[in-house]
This record gives sequence, C-alpha cells and structure tokens, in this order.
Amino acid sequence: MANTRRMRFGIIGCGRIAPKHAESVLALEEAELVAVCDIVPERVQSFAAKYGAVPYEDYRELLQRPDLDIITIATSSDLHTEIGCAAAQAGKHVMVEKPMAMTLRSADQLITVCREAGVKLGVIHQNRYNKSVKLLRKALEEGRFGKLTHGQATIRWNRDDNYYAQAPWRGTRLKDGGVLMNQSIHNIDLLQWMLGPVDSVFGYTSTNLRHIEMEDVGAAVLRFKNGAIGLIEAASTLYPKNIEETLNIFGATGSVIIGGIAVNRMEVWEFSDSEAEKQGIFAAQENDPPDVYGFGHRELIQDMIQAVSEDRLPAVHGEEGRKALEIILAIYHCQKTGQPVTLPLIEEE
Ligand SMILES: NC(=O)c1ccc[n+]([C@@H]2O[C@H](COP(=O)([O-])OP(=O)(O)OC[C@H]3O[C@@H](n4cnc5c(N)ncnc54)[C@H](O)[C@@H]3O)[C@@H](O)[C@H]2O)c1
Repeated sequence: MANTRRMRFGIIGCGRIAPKHAESVLALEEAELVAVCDIVPERVQSFAAKYGAVPYEDYRELLQRPDLDIITIATSSDLHTEIGCAAAQAGKHVMVEKPMAMTLRSADQLITVCREAGVKLGVIHQNRYNKSVKLLRKALEEGRFGKLTHGQATIRWNRDDNYYAQAPWRGTRLKDGGVLMNQSIHNIDLLQWMLGPVDSVFGYTSTNLRHIEMEDVGAAVLRFKNGAIGLIEAASTLYPKNIEETLNIFGATGSVIIGGIAVNRMEVWEFSDSEAEKQGIFAAQENDPPDVYGFGHRELIQDMIQAVSEDRLPAVHGEEGRKALEIILAIYHCQKTGQPVTLPLIEEE
C-alpha cells in the first residue's frame, strides 16, 4: 500500500454503525476521514468532533466538496439508492451499507448510475473478511470440499422491542425489512458466496413476538445450480440474548462449521490430511468480537481503497451485493404467494 494516495472519506448517516466506519477509516494509513453528515444536528456535531471531521446536515452540501474520494452511506436502508446515486453523479466512489437497496429495481438503478458515472460501488458485507470465513472460502476455491452437498446459515439473535423503537424506520417494509433483510443478510450473502449461484428459493416469514411490520422469524430452503441444498434460519426473537450466527458448509470431502456470536469461531474443520493444519486453525482462533458487527470493516474498506487505486471492481461490488438481496426478496415473495421462486426474481411493478 506504500504507493497508494490517501483516500478521503465522507460518511453520511452518523447512527449506530457509523462509528465502526469512522474508526476503521482512522485506523487505515491509506485513508482519512474528512466530512460527516447527519440530519440530526447534535448527532453530527458530536460525531464530527469525536472523529475530527467537518459536519454537514445536508448530504448534497457534503457531496459538493471536491476533495472527497469515497462516500460511505450509513443511513436507513431506504435512502441508500437516492444518496448513492447523488454521490456517484458528484463523481464520488460509493460504499453502501447493506442492504444496498430495498428493491432489485433500486439496486439496479444504483449499479447503473455508478457504472455510467465511472465510479466504484462497494457493498458492506464485512463478514466475508472474518478470519474463519476467509479460511473456508480458500478451501472452497481450492476444491477441497469435492462435490458440495449442502449448507446452512443460522442467525439466532435477540432484538427486543426497545431496539426496534430506537428509530422509526426499523422493522418497516419500505425502509428496513425484518430479520432476514437487516440481520441475516450477511449470513445469506456468505451462504450464496460459498454455494451459489441459486436456482430456486422457498421460504416462510412470521412476526411472532416483536411489534413490527416485518418478520422476526424467517426460514427458507434454497436449491443451488450445482445441486447443493441450502437452509436459512433467521430469528431476532431469541430468549434472552444473542446466541449464535453460524455458517455450515458440507461437501463430499470436507465439513466446516463456523459458529460464535457472529460467524467468527471455527467449530468444525474436517478435510482429509488436515490434522496439522487443523491444530493451527484452532490455535489461531479469533476471539468473539466486542459487538456483532465483527472485525471485518477495516479490510473491506481497504479492499475498496485498493479497487479505486487499481481501477478494478471491489470484492463485494454492486452485482455481488445484489445477490443476497434477491434471495431475501424471493423469500418475501414466497411468503405472499405460497409458491417457490425460480431466480431471477421478477419484481412486481
Ligand atoms: N454492516 C453491518 O453490520 C451493519 C450493522 C448495523 C447497521 N447496518 C446498516 O447501516 C444502516 C444504518 O443503520 P444504523 O443502525 O446505524 O441506523 P441508525 O438509525 O442508528 O442511523 C442512521 C442515521 O442516518 C441518519 N439519516 C437519516 N436520513 C439522513 C439523511 N438524509 N442524510 C444524512 N443522515 C441521515 C439518521 O439521523 C441516523 O443518525 C442501515 O442500512 C443498516 O442496515 C449495517
């Protein structure tokens, strides 16, 4: 990274996840945090003061700054497309929080506008950079699983009514979605990254305990084009706290289970000839992260910086981020119609 120019970041939306972005940018030698924006004046003032950035209350004003290279969008999910398109049209590269958009139509709009503006679009799926997930992906790329048979993405967390009451957008159909769209999307991204592409989806959703418009429990079965089967279980109802976020991948000659609070702890690593390697993997375990957002943001942001300086796609570029969104929207479609969906999902007008 020695020859890379320092990339200047602006963050739009200074809520719960924004400190993770600010701290990651500040920790990177090749990045600097220049400007931040929130519509709540006291929030943006204290955030700007804490991280040494210039505060803005209107993102359009922030986007007029000629010195910004990359804009991180961390507002409620319904605003990602509008702000992302405006940033691209102002010539800025875009890092957008998940879900990248609330519909495939708006995801495609964001992808197209970024492409036409000649800027990079990266989607925040930081769990791809968890140490154990990277090991799993490497084993997969090396063909160590043989024929892939099945996998499971499970999230058993607790988000109580106080969490959903923190902001009016939470748990709503148009601005957030339920546990599949908000919490489980990272794990669904990982499942499809390992086993995809997806052929068809069937799922149910249900609102059992929380007072929200969308689901607090969801489950789905996926059939992948390679013949593997995937299972998704997502719940924000777990009593009395977060219990686990787990990813299982199985094949003819390999079995991997990653558990922990946020897909961070290798629990099973079985490949032929792997005894010495296995001991190394279990000895170099990552501790549980201090929060469920994990440790991956910094590396994901670093990849975006490299993508800009090398003029290549970021690892989780727009079309990559769209894949988990399509699966979740397909599950929502199943819940409405009672029928399985063969992808691509055709959205209703
Ligand atoms: N990657 C992850 O692990 C992760 C974790 C949490 C949240 N998220 C995603 O990040 C996004 C934000 O989530 P959060 O929990 O931080 O939400 P939040 O409600 O805590 O913060 C959102 C902030 O955006 C501000 N905002 C709203 N409209 C704005 C506008 N027009 N201009 C500028 N600021 C505006 C709000 O005032 C608020 O401070 C969501 O899309 C969410 O899904 C991702």
